[in-house]
Amino acid sequence: MCGSNKQASEHIKRQHYAQRVRDSCTTRVTKILCAIFLCLILVVGVVFFILWLSLRPHRPRFYIVDFSIPGLNQHSEFENAQITLNVTARNPNQHIGIYYISMVGSIFYEDSNMGSSPLMDPFYQEPKTTTIVYHTFNVATLTVNSRRWKEIMDNRQQGTVVFRIDIMAPIRFKVSTWGSQHHKMHANCDVAVGQDGSILPAWKNKKCILVLCLWLALRPGSPHFTITNFSVPAVNDSNTSDHGIIQYQLDIKNPNKDSGIYYDDILLIFYHGVNIVGNNTIPSFTEGKNRSHQVLNHFDVDNPFWAALRSAILNATAELRVDLSTKVRYKTWLIKSRHHGLHREGHIPIGKDGKISNNKKKVKLRDASK
Ligand SMILES: *[C@@H]1O[C@H](CO)[C@@H](O)[C@H](O)[C@H]1NC(C)=O
Ligand SMILES: *[C@@H]1O[C@H](CO)[C@@H](O)[C@H](O)[C@H]1NC(C)=O
Ligand SMILES: *[C@@H]1O[C@H](CO)[C@@H](O)[C@H](O)[C@H]1NC(C)=O
Ligand SMILES: *[C@@H]1O[C@H](CO)[C@@H](O)[C@H](O)[C@H]1NC(C)=O
Ligand SMILES: *[C@@H]1O[C@H](CO)[C@@H](O)[C@H](O)[C@H]1NC(C)=O
Ligand SMILES: *[C@@H]1O[C@H](CO)[C@@H](O)[C@H](O)[C@H]1NC(C)=O
Ligand SMILES: *[C@@H]1O[C@H](CO)[C@@H](O)[C@H](O)[C@H]1NC(C)=O
Repeated sequence: MCGSNKQASEHIKRQHYAQRVRDSCTTRVTKILCAIFLCLILVVGVVFFILWLSLRPHRPRFYIVDFSIPGLNQHSEFENAQITLNVTARNPNQHIGIYYISMVGSIFYEDSNMGSSPLMDPFYQEPKTTTIVYHTFNVATLTVNSRRWKEIMDNRQQGTVVFRIDIMAPIRFKVSTWGSQHHKMHANCDVAVGQDGSILPAWKNKKCILVLCLWLALRPGSPHFTITNFSVPAVNDSNTSDHGIIQYQLDIKNPNKDSGIYYDDILLIFYHGVNIVGNNTIPSFTEGKNRSHQVLNHFDVDNPFWAALRSAILNATAELRVDLSTKVRYKTWLIKSRHHGLHREGHIPIGKDGKISNNKKKVKLRDASK
């Protein structure tokens, strides 16, 4: 009894010891693995940090070289109004090029916009180069009225007039073959002109303040759906009292300049009051950038819904509600988005002639969730 007890307790001790050795082994192995893992993370982190430091894109630099309101003395007319702008855009990066997708300049006087105009066609700027942005705003691009113009001229008589120039451009950085996301760039420059309408020396070659909105989410805009060419022919035809036909055209427009759209099947359901009078399905298709599609469609309306709809049309009180649902994916620069559900609706008032009433030719479908 005693012996077996002793044996048992020794057995337990041995077991306990073995357990501790095993435990410390596993802790040691875990510790080593952990250390290796942390080292790896550190090395990768350092490599990325160095890469980032060397490749980190510098924002472009804009300098105002010249700004003038030429040919304008105190007698001049608004019709001759003209503003010229000469700005340099510098790409300070060693290895990174810049795509300017567009460039729009606006001139502000006392915070009111005097006019905006595209300054450059899209262009690519090589690393370490400077581009001259020269533009003349003439009367056609200026939105000031002659009264405001006279006010500016009068101010000029007193010495200096300060303007603000805003240059907006969506840009992308390019490192060898990799292109970055879009960024929205704003260059803001204050500039003053003297009595003769030309830039004051103190304002020459001043650097503009640059604001870069990183990762400008070029969130694609959703497509526009419009019902046109709606008609209910033969509404007066007594031979068609048992069923009628409704015809319409659906215009589908992709407003995006950078994204194509993949449409799943588009389901249209037409309601008269609470009753579904018809439906159509448009099979899935793809629509390119800035394109639109027209789909001609029709559906039959059977009794008893047709009788009710017909008498409402003849009474000029008919209105159909159309419900559109589909799913779309956007494709931007080879990247496909996830599916987005779309739900639109519209109300189509129908006149006695079976067309859209209220002198309207079309009905835009609106977001049904709002
Ligand atoms: C604009 O400024 C640049 C840099 O000074 C100059 O080389 C260029 O000739 C100017 N352009 C015009 C049209 O004055
Ligand atoms: C209506 O359809 C006709 C052809 O059937 C077409 O010529 C016309 O452009 C369409 N109207 C609209 C607003 O799309
Ligand atoms: C209606 O149908 C009758 C015979 O079914 C035919 O004679 C008549 O011309 C039709 N009317 C119209 C407007 O189609
Ligand atoms: C659409 O209409 C057809 C008959 O034209 C019907 O069989 C079908 O169930 C309808 N679908 C929906 C979703 O209302
Ligand atoms: C988009 O399409 C319209 C007409 O289809 C055209 O006038 C416009 O220039 C196009 N815009 C672009 C950026 O391609
Ligand atoms: C016809 O219109 C009047 C009002 O303009 C309305 O009271 C009546 O219910 C309408 N009848 C039908 C059948 O829609
Ligand atoms: C039906 O008749 C009314 C007058 O009787 C007319 O104003 C209307 O245009 C006709 N509708 C169609 C679709 O012919």
